[in-house]
Amino acid sequence: MNLKNRDFLKLLDYTPDEIEYLLNLASDYKDKKKKGVPHDSFRGKNIALIFEKTSTRTRCSFEVAAHDLGMGVTYLDPVGSQIGKKESIADTARVLSGIYDGIEYRGFGQEIVEELARYATVPVWNGLTNEFHPTQILADLLTVREKFGRLSGINFVYLGDARYNMGNSLMVGCAKMGLNFTACAPVEYFPEKSLVDICKKLAAESGGSITLETNPEKAVRSADVLYTDVWVSMGEPDEVWERRIKALLPYRVTEKLMSYAGKNAVFMHCLPAFHDLKTGIGRSVGEKFGMDCLEVENSVFESDRSVVFDEAENRMHTIKAVMAATL
Ligand code: CP
Ligand code: NVA
Repeated sequence: MNLKNRDFLKLLDYTPDEIEYLLNLASDYKDKKKKGVPHDSFRGKNIALIFEKTSTRTRCSFEVAAHDLGMGVTYLDPVGSQIGKKESIADTARVLSGIYDGIEYRGFGQEIVEELARYATVPVWNGLTNEFHPTQILADLLTVREKFGRLSGINFVYLGDARYNMGNSLMVGCAKMGLNFTACAPVEYFPEKSLVDICKKLAAESGGSITLETNPEKAVRSADVLYTDVWVSMGEPDEVWERRIKALLPYRVTEKLMSYAGKNAVFMHCLPAFHDLKTGIGRSVGEKFGMDCLEVENSVFESDRSVVFDEAENRMHTIKAVMAATL
């Protein structure tokens, strides 16, 4: 498998075999890291991390993965560079390509990271856009594979805002890798029809399936995975909270909903999560609307069925695999 010089912009660009290769490589790196086996064969290379939105997991994963591989890292924060304000994406891509061996980009529209990649002469990795979050999906697939020993045939239910980055890219990842994916949401929060149609074709090839369902109790019967994400994503205005809560409250992952699922079902979330009122946004929204949690109950988040911190750790191992494979 040769993925050298490839961009990693969305999973639609990768075949199931290539995705499996990345998952296997991530497992190998994870094993090496746990055993303390050095793997710094990328010494002398440098990467740039562009973050136009904030991050904990993705930034830390790229930085630690790069250090483990022997590489130098520059972090460009949402305000500290010329990008967008004084310098176009096309110019930034050409400047950074002369200095760095790879570029990570987190920001707004998918078209921005696609443009960056078009002008860059080094690999570009998508660290989250409004439409897709492909490195997160690799971590999620690795976590599912570790927990269940397989991907194919797993019943994967995503509840909440299914038309944004997480819903979209989980649907693509599941369709490629033969999982049975259900988007469970009100109709207006279903993924776009054009993407659903593409994923249905991919699922037909992989042996998986795509289902759109509005009833959460029905959706989670025989589910292996219940997955959710925040109801309002980075970059969306605060004014949408009220409408979003009204629409998505029935899709909150509760203990009761977990009890309808298979007895071995796990809870997943890309994080950060509003499972209590111990965050600034969680507190202000929770108090305003009289709730003690948003998309998931604290008791589910903290339960034995929750694998959210395994997912978070796997961000680092899978991002390392993406960089190592493409550099
Ligand atoms: N899941 C995820 O991308 O987290 P961060 O926003 O902290 O990077
Ligand atoms: N949908 C969320 C994902 C965060 C990892 C957001 O875009 O804010």
